[in-house]
Amino acid sequence: AAQSGLRFYSSAVHIQTVGVIGSGQMGSGIAQVLAQVAKRNVILVDSKKESIEKSLININNLLTKQLNKGNITEAEKSATLSRISFSDDIKSVKDADMVIEAIVENPEIKSKLFQELAAICKPGAILASNTSSISITQISANTKTPENVIGMHFMNPVQVMKLVEVIPALGTSQNTVDVTLQLAKEMGKTTTLSKDMPGFIANRLLMPYINEAVQAFDEGLGTLEHIDTTMLLGCNMPMGPLALADFIGLDTCYSIMNILHTQLGDKYRPAPLLKRYVEAGRLGKKVGHGFYLYK
Ligand code: NAI
Repeated sequence: AAQSGLRFYSSAVHIQTVGVIGSGQMGSGIAQVLAQVAKRNVILVDSKKESIEKSLININNLLTKQLNKGNITEAEKSATLSRISFSDDIKSVKDADMVIEAIVENPEIKSKLFQELAAICKPGAILASNTSSISITQISANTKTPENVIGMHFMNPVQVMKLVEVIPALGTSQNTVDVTLQLAKEMGKTTTLSKDMPGFIANRLLMPYINEAVQAFDEGLGTLEHIDTTMLLGCNMPMGPLALADFIGLDTCYSIMNILHTQLGDKYRPAPLLKRYVEAGRLGKKVGHGFYLYK
């Protein structure tokens, strides 16, 4: 039994260094948990310098909060920070054992990035996408190593939420699945497996609910507060749907609805108001203005 336990544990041991592409809300959280909980070295890459600076400040602030609460020591904080390096050059992940992508939710941009990653990364490196809804099989198609490509869908905020949905694509190898499940476990997460279908499990169920709330608000069914409070107190949701949409990012919600709509049919048509807010740049909490205003 001890031997088989050891064998099970060893499956993700060779993942020492992880590249994370995209240092937005999700990439930042993934990098922090990889460094802090799974104790892996992380290279966090973003094409925008401002995004990298913001991410460093965010991670530092979150660790300081934990320190002030007495949840971690100064040594743990600095050890976590020392495991994360930042870069604006994608080639800096060339020696990583695994790369987790968390860039904008756009199929063409993601596919292009995965082709680039497959060319840059060392043979056998696992390439995971944190996409909320895009087909992993499509993302893996032009990589020449589809057996190494997988969906690893974290929830927001990554530091707090306990779940990772793991999505094997058509050509994903069992080894890639095993290593990914094990790494998620070492990050302190519980995993579920989902078939590679639009929205996977979480967003197939969540997004139509958020979209319906946006449509209902547009029709004047209730005020923002009344819609959110009804779901919060009447249905025991931890957040109202419109506050949740702001938290996720309205651009991300809109992109996911578009994918559900294109691939699963009219039932999933994005609410026109959601589109209008995205066009207006009211993307939610990350920009200070969505359905609600944020200081
Ligand atoms: P975000 O807008 O906060 O961050 C995206 C980051 O990617 C930005 O910093 C941007 O500069 C960078 N970026 C864009 N294109 C790039 C490229 N080609 N190379 C390098 N960096 C690039 O977005 P967020 O919310 O972090 O979402 C990222 C991904 O995670 C999306 O696929 C989204 O669907 C998924 N996701 C989002 C969740 C959420 O609640 N926001 C939850 C789970 C998954």
